[in-house]
Amino acid sequence: MKALIASGGRGTRLRPITHTQNKHLIPIANKPILHYAIEAAKEAGIKEMGIVVNADSHEVQDAIGDGSRWNVHITYIPQEAPLGLAHVVRIAEPFIGIEPFIFYLGDNLVIGGVQRFVEEFEKSKCNCFLTLARVKDPERFGVPELRDGHIVSIEEKPKHPKSSYAVAGVYLYDRHIFEAVKALKPSARGEYEISDAHQYLIDHGYSVGYAEITGWWKDTGKPIDLLEANRLILDNITPSMEGSVDEHSMVAGKVSAGKGTQIMNSIVRGPVTIGEHCIIEDSYVGPFTSIGDWCEIRNSEVEFSIIQKRCKILNVGIRIEGSLLGMDVEIVEAAGKPRVHRFMLGELSRVEIV
Ligand code: DAU
Repeated sequence: MKALIASGGRGTRLRPITHTQNKHLIPIANKPILHYAIEAAKEAGIKEMGIVVNADSHEVQDAIGDGSRWNVHITYIPQEAPLGLAHVVRIAEPFIGIEPFIFYLGDNLVIGGVQRFVEEFEKSKCNCFLTLARVKDPERFGVPELRDGHIVSIEEKPKHPKSSYAVAGVYLYDRHIFEAVKALKPSARGEYEISDAHQYLIDHGYSVGYAEITGWWKDTGKPIDLLEANRLILDNITPSMEGSVDEHSMVAGKVSAGKGTQIMNSIVRGPVTIGEHCIIEDSYVGPFTSIGDWCEIRNSEVEFSIIQKRCKILNVGIRIEGSLLGMDVEIVEAAGKPRVHRFMLGELSRVEIV
């Protein structure tokens, strides 16, 4: 079986970070989101993976490489524009061929992996096998209508959802999906919808099975989803301290820190992960925080946040919480008089001040 992983799209709900960074490379617990998809597919025994990327960028290829670090083989499939998930499947046909495959949305995270779904799909002999998760806001997703244990219809982002399930971004197909995606017309929002392909299969008498995701699943489309995913992954980290902690510091709970990181006169309360070569001095780092390599946090407090590589947080008088910082961001005390807030923010930045 091969895996097809989607990592294109524009990540509009995560701007301004996604102006300069593909959303699938944003780190969750200091690991790009896309790694989780690759690792889940590998864990399910898959070694041939196709990753769909935006045709106008080489960022994902540069960051992920040919797959050798996971001992898998990765083929990149360029998509000329984000024309929808059914389009992603359509352009992948030459890579997939006629074998069954798993389609994994690169911005989805499923704790516990996908092996169980691969096995259930193979056993079921269905043409298409979907994973469903119960959600509070089904109108954000593809939503199935269920009757007597069968999916009888599927709608994309319906105003009036017919169940409280979302179709999660892990799908299993046989070759009939290509017939479906080729028959579609774009939806009202101009995309070839994967939900329409599923409806096509139902309408044409193909078998569409499903399994419920009972652990947790996250679609990381919005900043709060990333912070929540970060929280859930950090909850399960294995602590490892490769940095140094001085005698005036307190490190409690599950904390990881990489080589060359120094924690001085600070409190770090896990679960927290800190990359390599960071300086945490006279500071507090609270639960559910991820800090990338080469960051400096001095005389400041941070909690429940994702802070990417090379950020500086210096002498900030209020606790930073629920925040997502891109690479090379600086939040520092304003020097001199008058005492003012001074900002240099890109398009669609958001700052909340008290
Ligand atoms: O997360 C599950 C949901 O994913 C499903 O419930 C929906 O039925 C399905 O349409 C999809 O909805 P989203 O609105 O979350 O899709 P999004 O546009 O965020 O794209 C999902 C992933 O696919 C994301 O990793 C970006 C990538 N993508 C998206 C499009 C539209 C591509 O690679 N190419 C594309 O053309």
